[in-house]
Amino acid sequence: MIVLRTVRELREAVRAARTRGERIALVPTMGALHEGHLSLMRRAREHCDFVVVSLFVNPAQFTVAADLAWYPRDEVRDARLAESAGASVLFAPAVGEVYPDGFATSVEVAGLSAPLEGEARGTQHFRGVATVVTKLLNMAQPDEAFFGQKDAQQALIIRRLVRDLNLPVRVEICPTVREPDGLAMSSRNALLDAEGREKATTLSRALFAVERAAAGGERHAEEALEAGRAILSQEGIFPEYFAAVDPNTLAPVASLEGGTLIAIAARVGSVRLIDNVIIGTRRAVE
Ligand code: PAJ
Repeated sequence: MIVLRTVRELREAVRAARTRGERIALVPTMGALHEGHLSLMRRAREHCDFVVVSLFVNPAQFTVAADLAWYPRDEVRDARLAESAGASVLFAPAVGEVYPDGFATSVEVAGLSAPLEGEARGTQHFRGVATVVTKLLNMAQPDEAFFGQKDAQQALIIRRLVRDLNLPVRVEICPTVREPDGLAMSSRNALLDAEGREKATTLSRALFAVERAAAGGERHAEEALEAGRAILSQEGIFPEYFAAVDPNTLAPVASLEGGTLIAIAARVGSVRLIDNVIIGTRRAVE
């Protein structure tokens, strides 16, 4: 695996791979790699010969300066992990390479960027995500790009921008990788203290309770969410949102169907966590 810093070097490496007849994958990340990220890379490697992993902590998508400052960074460790998961290139550009002086263009996916995370973090968040993902896709020009279901709204927004802008890439959304106790893997989990780490399982327990209610025949979204809310309030967790929404529009739904997205965001101490499940796709456990 090689580490590249400039778009020019990346384009050259990708061009050479394509000349060899190889299929190109892109896995965008912000580093602090964990099994969730590595699962995307392994999946990419199954499909493609040449896997570009980008490592870029994108300032444009952080709406709170402290969040950006505290974001965990360890490129040496990330490089080792990416290589072990099959990456051919680690593309780790400096901020100035991605946003040169005078940078003025942005991509905004209207509608889908507004609710849930958009409401909680501000619409700039997804403008930042959509813009950087569009740029990374144009920089690497992959045949396929891999994202995680863990960030369900982000995944939906990326699918939409790829469609709307006719970007010639196949997008695959990969399942959420969880710790054995159910906690969705996240770079932010490293910021939890011991007590927070234990409490953090409450989010997935609440989601699984909704899944169980649906599996048991409950069709009213409110009733099913109530089972989750009971678990959250028991642990003193007051979510920013805990909602049943249409998986394509993110509009709230009154009744649960196969495919309904149940999404949650909550702070555990000072650490903001998000998670989700899709009704009927995961075997209801516990
Ligand atoms: P980051 O949070 O580093 O996540 C990179 C990719 O890994 C995303 O597609 C995310 O959905 C996926 N991922 C994170 N945790 C996962 C888990 N537990 N299971 C499966 N996949 C998981 O998401 C971003 O970075 C950024 O917004 C980015 C797309 C790179 C744009 O800056």
